[in-house]
Amino acid sequence: MRKLALADAELGLLARMLRQVDFFSPLTVGQLDQVLPYIGLYSCETGETVFKQGDPGDAFYIVYKGRVSVRVKKSLLSLACVVADLGPGGFFGEIALVSNQPRSATVVCEEPTDLFTLLPADFAFVLRENPAVAAQMKRIAESRKFENRHA
Ligand code: CMP
Repeated sequence: MRKLALADAELGLLARMLRQVDFFSPLTVGQLDQVLPYIGLYSCETGETVFKQGDPGDAFYIVYKGRVSVRVKKSLLSLACVVADLGPGGFFGEIALVSNQPRSATVVCEEPTDLFTLLPADFAFVLRENPAVAAQMKRIAESRKFENRHA
């Protein structure tokens, strides 16, 4: 993954882009201003692995451009199966952060992909400031875990 530099002048553009992403849209202008400087933008090539199942959870990710696949391996000997494809606005990496456990899946870029990232403390800030978003995030994490257990 290659980090893309964000110049000061581009932060306004980033704020407008983030407004179109469901996860950030409930934030007030003030709240968005607080997290904006900590949002990273990374570029990945086709076939690049963002992280592997079992890795520690180091960040929360939102697809800005491109597409990623989510692959789960149920046991050491079984093959990984694709449980989801996520495009622009889709997010991943919440389970490890919300449940404080290792990554539940491997995520691979299926085409050239740009990703927004939030470090755990900044992700926690957004959830703290928005109880409705926090509740929704926990519901989504639980339903994804349930889906994988029963896949
Ligand atoms: P995490 O466990 O932190 O890292 C892998 C991520 O893949 C996980 O968080 C979810 O964001 C995502 N993920 C896992 N299972 C599914 C699923 N069934 N559908 C969509 N996304 C998933």
